[in-house]
Amino acid sequence: MNSEKQALTMENLASLCKRRGFIFQSSEIYGGLNGFWDYGPLGVELKRNIKDAWWKAMVREREDIVGLDAAIIMHPRVWEASGHIQGFNDPMVDCRACKRRFRADQLCEEQGLELETGSAAERRLKLPEGARCPACGSRDLTEPRDFNLMFKTFIGPVEDESAVAYLRPETAQGIFAQFNNVASVSRQKVPFGIAQIGKAFRNEINPRNYTFRSREFEQMELEFFVKPGTDAEWHDYWVKERLRWYQRIGLPEGHLHPYVYKKDELAHYASACVDILYDFPFGTQELEGIAARGDYDLRRHQEFSGKSMEYFDADTKEKYIPHVVEPSAGVDRIALALLCEAYREEWVPTAEAAGGGVLPAEPGRQPPPGYETRTVMRFAPCIAPVKAAVFPLLKNKPELVQKSREVFDLVRARWAAFWDQSGAIGRRYRRQDEVGTPFGVTVDFQTLEDKTVTVRDRDTMRQIRMAIAELPAWLAEKLA
Ligand code: GAP
Repeated sequence: MNSEKQALTMENLASLCKRRGFIFQSSEIYGGLNGFWDYGPLGVELKRNIKDAWWKAMVREREDIVGLDAAIIMHPRVWEASGHIQGFNDPMVDCRACKRRFRADQLCEEQGLELETGSAAERRLKLPEGARCPACGSRDLTEPRDFNLMFKTFIGPVEDESAVAYLRPETAQGIFAQFNNVASVSRQKVPFGIAQIGKAFRNEINPRNYTFRSREFEQMELEFFVKPGTDAEWHDYWVKERLRWYQRIGLPEGHLHPYVYKKDELAHYASACVDILYDFPFGTQELEGIAARGDYDLRRHQEFSGKSMEYFDADTKEKYIPHVVEPSAGVDRIALALLCEAYREEWVPTAEAAGGGVLPAEPGRQPPPGYETRTVMRFAPCIAPVKAAVFPLLKNKPELVQKSREVFDLVRARWAAFWDQSGAIGRRYRRQDEVGTPFGVTVDFQTLEDKTVTVRDRDTMRQIRMAIAELPAWLAEKLA
């Protein structure tokens, strides 16, 4: 983690996110709901930019990947076939004293204990000696019990077993279940992929670290179908592609860590898995998993549905169930990583002090004379929720206001833009720094004479003057 990022605490970030409209607690007026979050006006733009960047890289710019938008609620047999009904569980312990429930593995990790594996026949986990309730300290805890993470609901008016359905815990299964339809209508040949972005739901026992582990979140998943035997090369390819994409959207290589699973950590059907981890302030944690899953999913759906999932290769006349490489990322985690990465506290020259550059703020210390502290979100321009803000220098000069509205219309025809006339110009710049707007365009008295504006750069705070006519092309280049 670099020195500028050390100042960041999740409290500071959450406070900025609420104050400036990135993220709110869900149902806040009723006291909130643990594990659920709402994205405000800027948060929704940020998430949209992430999803657009992913869709562009995965679908629009390629000929070998097509999209899908499957339903959130699917036939319950989907989840039997996928193994989620049987195996999508967390081991939970209950405290008999205070009646609270905890994840056994997290409780042990926090207390420096090893969760013990019971007899192989039982395949049960055992709590080690000395485990305590994290809430009340009691040692009167139950042994771990499996708790299924899928949210249950009922289809139709009768709430009995035959009407049970689940909110999808991943988007991937919608892709596998529609494999035949998409393969035939898109006329794709293996290797090819199906991409999907959508909501997923997991009844996480301990939602934590702000939005990192939520109960409702969005996934961006690609199932890339390959010829058996080519899994390893495609897996390598996708790990590299995905790492490159993260750097393009503003997460530097030094803060990204590929974690390669050891053979004994892999699911029994998988031949390889790499997680892409990011240095969050609360630890180095997963943004995305890239797994080579063999033919497990399609084969299981073939078995459970009775429908063939075989692919006929017209060139080689071979018939086979394709293997799959799955890069699976979380939108909310990427948004959180980008917010953490962008957040800076800096010392910048005051309006009165001439010159001087931007300095990283030193935690707990006052800025030097002639400097003040600013909070700035240094988003990559392609990710910034607002691309440019337009200001009249003074709000009580109708001719400046009118001209600035014209410039604003010019900019917002193509990009997310913001117009602001209230307060001193320095304060308006600061407000935009805090939400990460890369450029501030000011209309002043010179504009009325020669049709030029000043453009201020968020990061260097330097200003240049340019003709209004040149502004769209200049912004297009900078925001590409
Ligand atoms: N289809 C494979 C799959 O779902 P996963 O590792 O369970 O794999 C993929 O999830 C990604 O979804 C994770 O890397 C993470 O970014 C995101 N994700 C999973 N659970 C999440 C949660 N509770 N809150 C936020 N994001 C989550």
